[in-house]
Amino acid sequence: MTFKTVCKLEDLWEGEMQAFEVDGEEVLVVWPEGSELCAYQGLCPHQDIPLEEGKFDGKVVTCRAHQWTFDACSGKGLNPAGAVLSRYPIKVENGEVLVQVEGIKPSTFA
Ligand code: FES
Repeated sequence: MTFKTVCKLEDLWEGEMQAFEVDGEEVLVVWPEGSELCAYQGLCPHQDIPLEEGKFDGKVVTCRAHQWTFDACSGKGLNPAGAVLSRYPIKVENGEVLVQVEGIKPSTFA
């Protein structure tokens, strides 16, 4: 397993999300309010629209294209409930945020 640095922790804010590319994969780093950093697939499981272009209210990520919504703490689809964001391991070391995408495929849902 190879973790890759995506940014410094000080560059992120609780309640916000930001996209990065890690080993050719789009990754969405989300910091839910009152919770810990999470890393998910960066493209919507519906039609590959970048989720960073959507909205994040601190709890729910909403895709801009067709308004699908995802729980920012679990990646589970709220609407539709069957959709889910693949989740990547994430950690903070020496003030840097690292993500590992190896072996994890983004999910799709139609
Ligand atoms: Fe995201 Fe359709 S592409 S909801």
